[in-house]
Amino acid sequence: MMENSNSELLAKIADLKKRRNAIFLVHNYQLGEVQDIADFIGDSLELSQQAARTDADVIVFCGVRFMAETASIICPDKVVLLPDLHAGCPMADMITAQRLREKKKMHPEATVVCYVNSSAAVKAESDICCTSANAVRIVEKLPSDEEIIFIPDQYLGNYVATKTGRNMILWPGFCPTHTRIQAPDISRQKKEHPKAKALVHPECRPEVIALADEVLSTGGMIRFARDSNTEEIIVGTEIGIIHRLRKENPGKRFIPVSEQAICPRMKLITLESVLWSLENMTHRIKIPTRTRLKAKAAVDKMLEG
Ligand code: 13P
Ligand code: SF4
Repeated sequence: MMENSNSELLAKIADLKKRRNAIFLVHNYQLGEVQDIADFIGDSLELSQQAARTDADVIVFCGVRFMAETASIICPDKVVLLPDLHAGCPMADMITAQRLREKKKMHPEATVVCYVNSSAAVKAESDICCTSANAVRIVEKLPSDEEIIFIPDQYLGNYVATKTGRNMILWPGFCPTHTRIQAPDISRQKKEHPKAKALVHPECRPEVIALADEVLSTGGMIRFARDSNTEEIIVGTEIGIIHRLRKENPGKRFIPVSEQAICPRMKLITLESVLWSLENMTHRIKIPTRTRLKAKAAVDKMLEG
């Protein structure tokens, strides 16, 4: 029964997608059913790069709002649809353009490095963007005497500061999903699976990062699983990624550090909402031109590097 209704839904989606000349960009944390209809699936950086490359007329962004905004910043002539407007990132909401302006006034010489998990308005107030995949490289390239404000994730910021030896002013934001992953969870999994390698996302707390074998973006985890000989992998990030890891590596074992690591906003995108979005051509994510151009300068600097 379930399979029948899904196959009908899938056929409708495929038909409309063709008629609209649409592409589905899907983040690694999405529901399995949404991952399975992706034209491209990846981490934040890979999805931005893909948005920049596509010749489709419509991008249906299966992820959270800041990701759809980034696609719209890069591709203003395309229709960018977010199937559910409530799919926002709580960390991105922990900073506003106004509060950032106030911080900049206190440090007028500082360079603002902005994690892409932020609104277009916040990016517009920033000098350069980064994702978890390139944050260390981007900060390393800044002159060593430069004062840096890193926003909005204190844990990614702390990780980058540790790796680069740079002293950065950190914004106190955090990811409510990754902070649910606790050090005792990872210690327990390592004890139960002594041969496994533990991968964690840099949004995790420092005490969790300290127990990891590798600290990687979601795209980095996908590559590690594919390329390493390790048969057992402990996964310290949002559990949606397990679907892709298992699908692409059927011979390997993936163990989530914590079943609690769920991002509820990511899960708002469903097959139904994707179909609804294509039928109604909503919700269109469009950034006002002035904000877009300023935000684009920060995103372009990241993509060039
Ligand atoms: P990635 O860029 O590693 O996919 O991370 C995005 C994100 O929102 C992590 O919580
Ligand atoms: Fe935001 Fe965390 Fe969800 Fe990523 S997992 S989208 S940082 S709330």
